[in-house]
Amino acid sequence: MSFNELHKATEQALTKAVDDICDEFYISDEKLQELTDYFIEQMEEGLNKQDATSSKGLPMIPSFVTGMPNGTERGVVLAADLGGTNFRVCSVKLNGDHTFQLEQMKSKIPDELLDDESVTSKDLFSYLSRRTMAFIKKYHPEYLAPNSESLPPLKLGFTFSYPVNQTSLNSGCLIRWTKGFKIADTVGKDIVELYQNELNAQGLPFVHVVAMTNDTVGTLLSHCYCSDNTDSLTSGDITEVAIGCIYGTGTNGCYMEEIKNIKKLPEEDRKRLLDEGKTHMVINTEWGSFDNNCKHLPTTKYDVEVDQKSSANPGFHLFEKRVSGMYLGEILRCILVDLHDQGVMFNQYRSYDQLPQRLKSPLELSSEVLSHIEIDDSKELAETELSLLQSLRLPTTFAERHSIQKLVRGISHRSAYLAAIPIAAILKKTNALNKRYHGEVEIGCDGSVVEYYPGFRSMMRHALALSPIGAEGERKVHLRIAKDGSGVGAALCALVA
Ligand code: GLC
Repeated sequence: MSFNELHKATEQALTKAVDDICDEFYISDEKLQELTDYFIEQMEEGLNKQDATSSKGLPMIPSFVTGMPNGTERGVVLAADLGGTNFRVCSVKLNGDHTFQLEQMKSKIPDELLDDESVTSKDLFSYLSRRTMAFIKKYHPEYLAPNSESLPPLKLGFTFSYPVNQTSLNSGCLIRWTKGFKIADTVGKDIVELYQNELNAQGLPFVHVVAMTNDTVGTLLSHCYCSDNTDSLTSGDITEVAIGCIYGTGTNGCYMEEIKNIKKLPEEDRKRLLDEGKTHMVINTEWGSFDNNCKHLPTTKYDVEVDQKSSANPGFHLFEKRVSGMYLGEILRCILVDLHDQGVMFNQYRSYDQLPQRLKSPLELSSEVLSHIEIDDSKELAETELSLLQSLRLPTTFAERHSIQKLVRGISHRSAYLAAIPIAAILKKTNALNKRYHGEVEIGCDGSVVEYYPGFRSMMRHALALSPIGAEGERKVHLRIAKDGSGVGAALCALVA
């Protein structure tokens, strides 16, 4: 075979291999229907099952939040927010007219707290308390001055974006870490207690952690507070804020469930709440854990590799590992290494060992790079070439870049189509689209993927139209970006606590 023939044969083999992978990532209409139905089944099972800790089903965690703000809430409270990447301490002033002012100090979680296996809970919560102290020094120094005893305690709402078995508004034990953390001795411990103890130890006993909330719950509450609950497109019809959700480093969502359906709540709690006139409670679904048994979730060999080799929680949060920002780049990285192994890409490297170090490093390729490749229309995909050089030190041919763009689009398409499933399922289960004459609903969304990934929301909408809610249902759904959800939401929780 001549050099040209060989080159052509390799390109053909590459195209075939890439098309096969893209076929595997395709979500058909039937699959959407099947997954939505299964999601509803799992929601119902999760609402009945007591133990969210060991089960592989949908956790469906009661949040003990039983009412929604209406925008008239007023007051100044503190909020702290531990996510996958940053820790924030904020002071939130709710003005009572849907608006707020927020002062914040944000710090990137130090790598050693995420990577070092010997880190303990004490290390983590002492770091959080030191950051809280830095915030108090700057924004509430009066509490550190002499004679500050007469000042009222500072209430703090804590957004903790990990699965917690919540037992009241301000208590609950960590079920397991998700996203990046691996600190073993936190599992099973009460998160509020850990934080409060360290705040006391750092000399901040006047900061009272009065509420703990998941980021999705915060997003739902803050969207309710900020939204004036009308939709200008439908000439002032009242819309319901039905779901709070995150598509960022991780993915998850929450919604209001009727208390009488939450069978997992102890009988006496259910009775007491109903006697108090409470009818609904926000449920944190922890949908990242949907179908951990992979009964219906599409599963490629790359998904298995990401779960088993790259993630800190193998066997759990498998839906999240197909959808969220933490893993999209990793899926692509695993595919590229495999295509090299098949001999159809990057043939200048003779063996795995010779590949650029970054291409061999788990979680090295960020989803942001994929977002640039997704929409690259530059000549010969020059921007993709630069992105791959900068991020992975990986030189590419035009044919390789063309294939990589196809793969990126296959991965993001699957992610967005899967992302629509919980929304369709919750709307169907709660009958939210038929509640009023028009049945319009707002979905408060936060997170880098839904906010910044090009085309993500519009792909989600396509999937919603193909899902059991149909095109008519999809038209009633308003996906809204809810900014600062975790800060404002935690503050709202603390205010009512
Ligand atoms: C992970 C966490 C969940 C959180 C989500 C989004 O899935 O388990 O609690 O809401 O990430 O941050």
